[in-house]
Amino acid sequence: MDLKRAAGRSAAELVRDGDVVGLGTGSTAAAAIEAIGRRVEEESLDVTGIPTSYQSRWLAVENGVPLTTLDRDTPDVAIDGADQVDSDLYLVKGGGAAHALEKIVDEAADRFVVVADQSKLRDPLDHPVPLEVMPDAHRTVEDAVREMGGSPRVRLAERKDGPVITDNGNLVVDADLGEITDPAATARKLDLPGVVEHGIFPPPDEVHVATEEGVEIRRP
Ligand code: A5P
Repeated sequence: MDLKRAAGRSAAELVRDGDVVGLGTGSTAAAAIEAIGRRVEEESLDVTGIPTSYQSRWLAVENGVPLTTLDRDTPDVAIDGADQVDSDLYLVKGGGAAHALEKIVDEAADRFVVVADQSKLRDPLDHPVPLEVMPDAHRTVEDAVREMGGSPRVRLAERKDGPVITDNGNLVVDADLGEITDPAATARKLDLPGVVEHGIFPPPDEVHVATEEGVEIRRP
């Protein structure tokens, strides 16, 4: 079975009747949303989802998962993907530019579960860290990243001229910082004026890692 589907299905099995579920963004989280939708249809599972992007909102609607909002409900569990996961389970997220709302929903959840295939495991983390940046701050943020010894790059859109604009109307600066040996310290440094949110996430409650041998559940 496709590894992303296996991870998504494994996490979807954690969802219980009556749960409010944070719905992450990306292809692996999409597999979880599809698996939750199948359970709604086949088991009449009674759940509501809180989406983290237009992508997850639309996928939820397509797959028959009713929606609610953070104004009204707190997620019992949030299921989300990651771009990289280190051995302490720190994460880099934001490859899909959705990390600001993902962090809000994931951290609000009673239980935060990450779904990933084995290609996402990397120690130390070295994925460029996505920064959601207010448009007026892109130059000052880029300068600050260079002062940290990193290489910033404003993310450009595909099939649109110019930059990626997030669901919140901001830019994304991908900050290549090389190897990140102390993610918590790097996260503190990235708390810069104009950065709405950075893509370093603290360890979730569990990570469902799909390998060719099966899905392994890792906890901090
Ligand atoms: C979205 O902004 C990201 O945080 C995703 O969770 C991350 O990019 C993982 O996506 P895939 O599951 O598609 O690799």
